[in-house]
Amino acid sequence: MNNKKLWGGRFEKSTDEMINDFQASINFDKRLYREDIEGSIAHAKMLAACKIISADDAQKIIEGLKNILAQIDGGNFNFSVELEDIHMNIEKALTDSIGDAGGRLHTARSRNDQVALDMHLHVRRQVEEIQRLIRELQKNLVDATEKNLSVIMPGYTHLQRAQPILFSHHLMAYFWMLKRDYDRFSGVYERANIMPLGAGALAGTTFPIDRNFVKDELNFKEVYLNSLDAVSDRDYILEFLSAASILMIHLSRLSEEIILWCSREFNFVELDDAHCTGSSMMPQKKNPDVPELVRGKAGRVIGHLMAMLTTVKALPLAYNKDLQEDKEGLFDAIDTVKFSLAVFAQIIAGMKVKAENMRRAVEEDFSNATDVADYLVKKNLPFRQAHEVSGKLVHHCIERGIYLKDLPLDEYKTFSDKFDADIYDAIKPETCVNARNSLGGTSTEQVKLQLEHARKFIS
Ligand code: ARG
Repeated sequence: MNNKKLWGGRFEKSTDEMINDFQASINFDKRLYREDIEGSIAHAKMLAACKIISADDAQKIIEGLKNILAQIDGGNFNFSVELEDIHMNIEKALTDSIGDAGGRLHTARSRNDQVALDMHLHVRRQVEEIQRLIRELQKNLVDATEKNLSVIMPGYTHLQRAQPILFSHHLMAYFWMLKRDYDRFSGVYERANIMPLGAGALAGTTFPIDRNFVKDELNFKEVYLNSLDAVSDRDYILEFLSAASILMIHLSRLSEEIILWCSREFNFVELDDAHCTGSSMMPQKKNPDVPELVRGKAGRVIGHLMAMLTTVKALPLAYNKDLQEDKEGLFDAIDTVKFSLAVFAQIIAGMKVKAENMRRAVEEDFSNATDVADYLVKKNLPFRQAHEVSGKLVHHCIERGIYLKDLPLDEYKTFSDKFDADIYDAIKPETCVNARNSLGGTSTEQVKLQLEHARKFIS
């Protein structure tokens, strides 16, 4: 039969159909076709440069591979499960089209180092794409920050109103998380930027190959110096999945906040109609499905990380078929992260900020109580005593059903003779915010400084 196994020589029987379906990876590894062809072209060039195959054969191979690439790109390629994986599908199509020269391509190579090469190329490419999407989201966060620079909201600890902050400061916190995500992906890139081809199945090859040729051809930084390591290393995938998980956790935290802010209880923001869905039963509903889904998908990416850690744990050297399990989770994580970043950029761009509601949440509460204490400290009361006085004032106001700004000065004075008329200015939301002018604090000046640094990063 035409789809005879490329490794069928030592076998008397053909593979059981169910077993073949079970072990074949073509249904998911076909997405490596571009990398597989790039890798094979570099390998063929190297084989010719080292005189392991003729220049003529190399030329035929390269042209044949380019034709296959065009076929796959155009949706005109028939993938066969019988041929197991992307490597053998392409090699078989090549041999069918160019004859013997195609059969020479796999000289000095195994699928073990071939798949490792494909995965390194793929991860590198996807990391670049993800970093581009991180920047897009960061740009939108910076835009939203600039647009809402002086909007004041309560900052929370324990989800209890704590101190007044700038909404822009809150948004910028996510910018810096994303900056670390970006940097983490640069680290992933670096570890994926090592060239494994030439390791053969596990021990190297008897042919006089030039691994640095392939390294340079494919723009890798270095080559693996141990063939066993080259075919068994999945660290860069584990690192990718952990960087992806941390990124998804950041998006999930922001999602959770946006979901809360959209609730009637907070009512701090409203998402664009185009980014929400309704309910089939309750006509009034406008649901923040996108952040909810991103929050949900974070669990899925973390799951892929756990699965991969567990797969690699206790695997003996060198290649084991378990390692084929490195693909589906990784590919799904790539899709999930890219999609989540892209939709989130839109969510942020379309989000309407309800500044009056945020301000009301600051004014109708006691998040300026620390500022009362700080006021007294600046008038030379030790902080511990000032804290006590401010606490008593809060208690007194709660009993009277008023806020600190409403308490008459003579009542202030019964708590401490250090109070003067300037207390009212000291506890205004703007004063509280702008007084926190320590480096990295929430003052307008400090947020502007953050923006300056941020703009440098995204430009
Ligand atoms: N499809 C395989 C994988 O993804 C390719 C390597 C197969 N090597 C082998 N010796 N069976 O891991």
